[in-house]
Amino acid sequence: MSMRLDQLVRNCADAIAAAQHSDSARLDAELLVLHVLEKPRSFLYSHPEFIINADQLAAVNHLVQRRCDGIPVAYLLGQKEFWSLMLKVDERVLIPRPETEAIIDYILQLNLPEQASVIDLGTGSGAIALALASEKPNYFVVASDYSEGALSVAKNNVQQLAANGACHEIPLLRGDWLSALAKNSFDLVVSNPPYIDAQDPHLQQGDVRFEPLSALVSKDSGYDDIKLISRQAKACLKSGGHLIIEHGYDQREAITKIVEAEGYLNVLDHDDLNAMPRFITAINS
Ligand SMILES: C[S@@+](CC[C@H](N)C(=O)[O-])C[C@H]1O[C@@H](n2cnc3c(N)ncnc32)[C@H](O)[C@@H]1O
Repeated sequence: MSMRLDQLVRNCADAIAAAQHSDSARLDAELLVLHVLEKPRSFLYSHPEFIINADQLAAVNHLVQRRCDGIPVAYLLGQKEFWSLMLKVDERVLIPRPETEAIIDYILQLNLPEQASVIDLGTGSGAIALALASEKPNYFVVASDYSEGALSVAKNNVQQLAANGACHEIPLLRGDWLSALAKNSFDLVVSNPPYIDAQDPHLQQGDVRFEPLSALVSKDSGYDDIKLISRQAKACLKSGGHLIIEHGYDQREAITKIVEAEGYLNVLDHDDLNAMPRFITAINS
């Protein structure tokens, strides 16, 4: 059996919409079909009459069925764009969110030393560390995670982007936040840690159902890891060094208090591009 491209995309979008796991059914359908055809998005509009062969149709149907089961598009494609870098992702890592790019924007406006030492804690796919390394080749960027699976994904991304010349090699460390790292050694500690309460009903909805719980959930109603990072970073940051932590939309006030209680200066909160509370910044005294 064969089918026109435009008809196939319509059918796939209808099937995905009917499954009610996606609020972007048409886009999902386009991405999955183009992935199988190995064509750019423009192909959809330049060749709507293109005839899909039976093998391609079977491959598309398989992906669409999995999307109808709720599996995120990024895991089906095996990749996700972050800060214009195409990162490999799989079920071992959080899918990098566009909201986190607001942190990169902020860091690029900081007046850090020319050869700043930076650590991305809980790097997952390597998104934050790689974005910074691609923008600031002189920075000494290190990335760490507790999960061996995540580090393996990050290593793949570091190697591929370094080979393409997009950034330099980034050392990857396995560790429990900053517990094993030297005191007084970083100009910037940045983290998008797990911050969701284990009882949060959002964990049962949408793409997050398929992401690793270890990347999402934190004890103490979602605050445990943020408390640990704030405390440990106080010792590991140089005097005047910057702490940046991403958090949930409803955690701004609690996190401001946590960070202020550690004795940081200039504690500021920031929104993301959707005007939602997203991250906190502070300076080590
Ligand atoms: C929300 S994900 C962030 C991933 C990535 N930085 C991003 O923004 O896409 C949190 C990450 O923290 C890691 N993590 C959880 N507990 C940790 C710990 N105690 N020490 C270091 N990393 C940890 C998880 O494995 C996960 O990769």
